Amino acid sequence: MTDTKKSEHGAWSSRIAFILAATGSAVGLGNIWKFPYITGENGGGAFVIVYIFCVLLIGIPIMIAETMLGRRSQRNPVETMDLLTEEAGADKNWHYLGWMGVIAGLIILSYYSVIAGWASAYVLKAFTGSFFDADGVAIKKIFDDFVASPMQLIFWHSLFMVTTMLIVVRGINKGLEKAVQFLMPTLFVLLLLLVAYAMTTKSYNQGLYFLFVPDFSKLTSDSVLSAMGHAFFTLSLGMGAIMVYGSYLPKNISIAKTAILIAGADTVVALLASIAIFPIVFANNLEADSGPGLIFQTLPVAFGTMTGGWLMGILFFVMLTTAALTSSISLIEPAVAWLVESKGFSRQKACVWSGLTVWLLGLGTAFSFNSWSEVKFFDRSIFQLLDYLTANLMLPIGGFCIAIFAGWIMKQQHSEEELDMPNAESYQLWKILISYVAPAAVFFVFLHVIGVL
Ligand code: PHE
Repeated sequence: MTDTKKSEHGAWSSRIAFILAATGSAVGLGNIWKFPYITGENGGGAFVIVYIFCVLLIGIPIMIAETMLGRRSQRNPVETMDLLTEEAGADKNWHYLGWMGVIAGLIILSYYSVIAGWASAYVLKAFTGSFFDADGVAIKKIFDDFVASPMQLIFWHSLFMVTTMLIVVRGINKGLEKAVQFLMPTLFVLLLLLVAYAMTTKSYNQGLYFLFVPDFSKLTSDSVLSAMGHAFFTLSLGMGAIMVYGSYLPKNISIAKTAILIAGADTVVALLASIAIFPIVFANNLEADSGPGLIFQTLPVAFGTMTGGWLMGILFFVMLTTAALTSSISLIEPAVAWLVESKGFSRQKACVWSGLTVWLLGLGTAFSFNSWSEVKFFDRSIFQLLDYLTANLMLPIGGFCIAIFAGWIMKQQHSEEELDMPNAESYQLWKILISYVAPAAVFFVFLHVIGVL
């Protein structure tokens, strides 16, 4: 690779900067909004266990692989696949893997931004005291009225997209690193406070029981697919986000340790959010399976009644919006990096075009909660369809291909050199997981879903 190309591509200022940014990408709406609501829809404990297994056996090995591919090539995902295929002397069609990632990122961001818009709208609601002394029924009504208005959803979606693009346009060091530094610790403390509140409700034990005592009879093949898809989604895997971040990673950093740390932090946040939410669900006679509105219909009840709830509510939704921002920048970075590095766009122009595309696509999701709620494809609303297509199909397929590439196509000598594990056993363990366990698991879940198994 030529030096000029390399120097166009940025680099993190330190290991901690990469950890913060990758954790920022991983921790987002997936943990705090999506994990609790899909856990609720899929019956609780058994789903949580399958999800944790997926993180350990599929997520972590693929995270290591994806970071490794990015760092080896130091390029955007499309070029990474080109370059590494050439290095391995493999078939040119691997090229499409990079492409699929870019497209998945754009589609995910289109609905992600609408939901992040809800979180920002709730900052204002918290500030104006809308939740004060409101019970479960009143809080639900606030939410229902809000999502019934296309104009409001579009307004907040637009605001969120503009903010995302303003950060992305500044490039990785100035934009991304700064945003995450304060976010993670604050978010963590707020979640702990919410858990403490949940402990004071009469349904704390019921919440824990729902989350941690598995009832496997509630598990369908589709819920296993959702648990697996969510492991990819929540760790930002299978679409090149982590690959692109890996490409900004200096050569002397241990990839494996870093990946374990990030996956651990991500899982802890998701579990804490659920431990805070479910007791509130049960204490207020709300439905665990009420879908994407779950956190917006539960946590405000806590903010409306607890001491200091006004401030907590504002802080929480500010944090949630920021957590979403640090993920959304990674959803669009593969597309932007590709437009800049391969198509010769200026960073500004790349941001305008990719941002506009995502914004337009997002309108479909915004309308799917109101005017177009009757529009269904395969029994799913536009939002549900895009979510299923990306999280349950594109990301696992992308992840599967990454595993095959890293385990079977890339030369062992190259992956060994790039990972530079502390001992031979750790490398062997990863190699087995990435070559056999992870791809086989994804494959079997798919076979199960299409009814072959
Ligand atoms: N991991 C992010 C979250 O949990 C979402 C995301 C998915 C980000 C894929 C990047 C890539 O909110």
